[in-house]
Amino acid sequence: MKKIFLLLSLAFLLYSCSEKPTPQKIALVPEPVSIEQDSLKNFILDKHTKLSFLNLDEQNPTRQHIVENYKHYFGFEPKVQNSPVRNIIIFELNDEKNDQLGDEGYQLTVDKKIILISANTEAGLFYGFQTLFQLAPANANAEKPVAIAVPGVKITDYPRFEWRGSHLDVCRHFFSIDEVKKHLDVMALYKLNKFHFHLTDDHGWRIQIDKYPLLTEVGAWRVDRSDVPWGEAEEAKEGEERSYGGYFTKDQIREIVAYAAARHIDVVPEIEMPGHSSAILTAYPQFACDDYPYCVALGPYWPPKAILCGGNDSVMVFLKDVFDEVMELFPYEYVHLGGDEAYKDNWRACPKCQQKIKDLGLANEEELQAWMVAEIEKEVNKHGKKIIGWDEILDGGVTPTATVQSWRGAESAIKAAQLGNEVVMSPTDFCYFDYYQDDPETQPKAIGGYVPLEKAYAFEPIPDTLTSEQAKCIKGAQCNLWSEFIFTYDHAEYMLLPRLCALAETVWTPKERKDWPRFAAAIPAQVHLLQQLGYNPCTTIGKEKEGE
Ligand code: ACM
Ligand code: ZN
Repeated sequence: MKKIFLLLSLAFLLYSCSEKPTPQKIALVPEPVSIEQDSLKNFILDKHTKLSFLNLDEQNPTRQHIVENYKHYFGFEPKVQNSPVRNIIIFELNDEKNDQLGDEGYQLTVDKKIILISANTEAGLFYGFQTLFQLAPANANAEKPVAIAVPGVKITDYPRFEWRGSHLDVCRHFFSIDEVKKHLDVMALYKLNKFHFHLTDDHGWRIQIDKYPLLTEVGAWRVDRSDVPWGEAEEAKEGEERSYGGYFTKDQIREIVAYAAARHIDVVPEIEMPGHSSAILTAYPQFACDDYPYCVALGPYWPPKAILCGGNDSVMVFLKDVFDEVMELFPYEYVHLGGDEAYKDNWRACPKCQQKIKDLGLANEEELQAWMVAEIEKEVNKHGKKIIGWDEILDGGVTPTATVQSWRGAESAIKAAQLGNEVVMSPTDFCYFDYYQDDPETQPKAIGGYVPLEKAYAFEPIPDTLTSEQAKCIKGAQCNLWSEFIFTYDHAEYMLLPRLCALAETVWTPKERKDWPRFAAAIPAQVHLLQQLGYNPCTTIGKEKEGE
């Protein structure tokens, strides 16, 4: 009897070993422009699969990235072989430009013996690599990889918008360089390309500036209240140790920028002015309108009192110095200068600010802010770069060359586009991923609001009142992750994921191909993939309306 059982087991084992793997159901995010499937053309990716690069030499950074990350994604050691054989994945930079693909598109063909990814640019090849991974993710991070079937497909793909962004606030709570890199990795997986790095705020200054060392010696640190919920912190006591915080050195910033560049992500640094400046005024109280004892903020406060004095010339010198050092570190052409929520009570009471308004012939405090923004813009332009600011930069009049980040609602985007200014969309109602994503009763405490996955997915970046000419001003969109209620990076991932998938599809996929049931059906596979990669996504999908 035992022998028969043994024989049967052996036969079953032989049968299962000889059985060909079958592909998992396709669940791509973002959905490509076009995809055709042919199940007779499945490709078996195994330890013998080779990689080949055409028109990309060994030093090419995208080639290097693909080779370095191949094992992490597919489980097997990369074997590069340039003579075409069977069982090979070819990455080809087109000799002749394919106009349909533009600067970021790619074509991916999976056939029985060959996978071919071709593109006009390295960015296109990089995105093709991400799609290939999503087609066959079974071995992600696997210790014991198995042969996997890649579904036979023909994909043509390119993005809808050029600005596909994700923001991270490292001020309210600080995250490490490795955590920022993990954030960049997940952005790359979903073909996002602008990392909005919110580096300065009331609760901490997070970037080394050589000319003003107190910004980080003083402004990066606050009393540690991380053991109590946000909003319940006691004020700092006289002499209490300031042990919570941190900042990125210039070398670390360079490391982050290089890490992002390898993933075809531009980093947009944000230096807040003139408001959200408690950390600055704690370090350099001479830049305030008054002699109030400013303190790196510990929790919520409203209205925010801290504002740089608009009538003090040394403030403008300070800001220009800071922007000069920042611009040296970030190669991307855009620099974000904040501009939001700058409450002007101090300016109304400040003789220097009032004198400045008179001297410049300005109508009011809003125009004083607009003047400061325009002065910084001139400095930024001198370096061949451009500014972007929150939509409050419209309030006192805006230069035609500033890009506006719309957050308070569609009206600001409409106003900016009507003026001909470029716009990045991130309205709170759809793009604030610090808002609840499921019934607040069941969720960790968040800042408020309600943006479940379906709501995030319903976002349309182009307001329907714009003419087709005005609509061209909409460069794209991004999600924002403010970290007041996010004490750890693990929790940042929980708030970000999988809502980042919704944003990614909004900014990449053609509008007419967006489809909630198809997208929602792909989410369990994406959540599983994210878990395989070591992320902490939310695993429930909130109802479209809170409490429904
Ligand atoms: C913002 O949310 N204050 C831009
Ligand atoms: Zn002042």
